[in-house]
Amino acid sequence: MASASVTTTGQPQWLDAKTQSLMDRSIAREKALSTILMTYILTGLAFMLLPGTFLGVWNLIFISKLQAAQSVAPGWIQAHGHAQIFGWVATFILGIGFYSIPKLRKMQPFPLWRAWACWALWTTGVLLRWGVTIQPWHWRALLPLSAVLELAAFALFFFTIGPAHASLKNEKMAWDTWVYVVIAATAGLLLTLLLQVLETFSLALSGASPAFPHLFDQRYLVVATWGFLVPMVWGFSARWVTVFLGLRPLRSSLLALAAAANSLGVLAALFGAFALAADALLAGAICAGTALRIFEPSVKMPKVVRVHSSFPYFVRAAFVWLAIAALLGIWASRNLAGSAGILGASRHALTVGFVAAMVFGVGQRILPSFCGMRVLASPRLMFAGLALLMAGCTLRVGSEILAYQNFAAWAWKLLPVSAVVEMTAVTLFALNLAWTFLRPPVVAPSPLTQFVE
Ligand code: HEM
Repeated sequence: MASASVTTTGQPQWLDAKTQSLMDRSIAREKALSTILMTYILTGLAFMLLPGTFLGVWNLIFISKLQAAQSVAPGWIQAHGHAQIFGWVATFILGIGFYSIPKLRKMQPFPLWRAWACWALWTTGVLLRWGVTIQPWHWRALLPLSAVLELAAFALFFFTIGPAHASLKNEKMAWDTWVYVVIAATAGLLLTLLLQVLETFSLALSGASPAFPHLFDQRYLVVATWGFLVPMVWGFSARWVTVFLGLRPLRSSLLALAAAANSLGVLAALFGAFALAADALLAGAICAGTALRIFEPSVKMPKVVRVHSSFPYFVRAAFVWLAIAALLGIWASRNLAGSAGILGASRHALTVGFVAAMVFGVGQRILPSFCGMRVLASPRLMFAGLALLMAGCTLRVGSEILAYQNFAAWAWKLLPVSAVVEMTAVTLFALNLAWTFLRPPVVAPSPLTQFVE
C-alpha cells in the first residue's frame, strides 16, 4: 500500500508502507533527540543563572565591600566555579554531544534512555556538589558521592557515543583534526573528574571542610579550564566557526600542534611548573588562532542569516580574550609578590571573555535549529547580550587587577558594577534561548533537515 508524503523540499512523493513507517520512526527519533537536547540546555541555563552567576555576583559584592579577596569562604567561590564550568558549560557540551556526534559519525542509533540517565546522574552530581560545598551537611558522604555521580554520567556518555562506537556502515571513518581536538578535550574532562574523585575521597577521610585546599584547587582549575573547556571550543570552532565565518580552510597540523602545546601546559601546571605551563598555554593559544585563521579576512560570505550580523566580530573578540588570558597567566606565574588579582583576572578573561562569549555566539547560531528546527527569537537580544558580556568582562578584568593587586583603591567600586553588567548579559542570553524554545518550529523536525546552515 502506498501513501502521500511531502519531502523537505516540499515535493509530494508516493512512499510504500515500509518506507513511510521508517520515515515516521526517524522523525519521532529526531523529535525525541531535540527534546533531550532542550532539557540539557535548559538545565545548563538554570545552573548558569542561579548557582553560577547569582552566587558569583554575591561573592564579588562581598569581596568589594570588605576590599579583600579572602573575605568569602573558599567553598562559596568553588561552588560558583563548579556551577559555571560543570553545571552550565559541560551540561551544554554533553547535550550537544548526544545530539550531534552520532549524526556526524553516522553511528547506529543509541538507546535514548542512556541520554536521560546521563542527565539525571550529572544533574544530581553537580547539584549535590554545589549544595554540600555551600552548606556542609553530611559532607563526608555526599561530597565523594557527588564526584562519583559526575564520573558515572561521563562514563555513560563516553560508552554511548565515544570513539569505540561503530559507525552505521561498519566502516572505519576517516577523522578530521577537529575530532582529535575534541577527544583531547574529553580526556581533559575525564582527568578533571578523576582528580575530583581522588580529592573528595581524601577530604572525606582526613579533611576539615568540603572545600578543596588552595594549591590543589589552582592546579585542578587549570585542568578544568585549559585542559577541558579550551580545546573543546577549539575543536567545535574548527568544525563550525570556519564555515560560519567563511574563513579559509583550517591549517590542520597547526591545530594539532596547538592541542599538543596546550596539553603540555596543562600537565606542567598539574605538576606545579607554572612558568613552563604559562608559556606553553600562550604558545597553544597563538597556534590555535593562526590555525583557525580567525583574524584573517573571510573568503566567503559569513553565514549570519537568523542571527545578529555582528556575530563574526564577537567570535574574533573572544579569541583576543583567549590571548589576554594566556598573557595574564604569564604575568601571574612570574610575579613573586602575590598574584591573586592577576590570576583571577586571567581566569575570567578565559571563562567569560573566551568561553562564555563563544557559547553565546555559536550556541545561539546552532542551538535553535538543533532544538527542533527553530529560529532564534531575537538577534537584537543576542547582540545586546554579547555586547554587555564584553563590556562587563573588560570592566571585571581591568578592575580586578587594579583592586586586588593594590594598584588603585577606586577600582573596588567598579567590581560590583562589572558583576551586574555580566549578570544582565547572561540573563539576556538565557531569555533569548528560552523564548526561542517556546516558539514553534519553522520546519517540521526531520532527519533530513537537521544540519541546515
Ligand atoms: C557572570 C559573572 C561572574 C561573576 C560576577 C563571577 C565572580 C567570581 C568571583 C567573585 C570569584 C572569586 C575569585 C575572584 O575574585 O576572581 C570567581 C571565581 C571563579 N569563577 Fe567566576 N564569575 C562570573 C562568571 C564566571 C563564568 C562564566 C565562569 C565559567 C564559565 C566562572 C568561573 C569561575 C571559576 C572557575 C572561579 C574559581 C573558583 C575556585 O577558586 O575554585 N565565573 N568568580
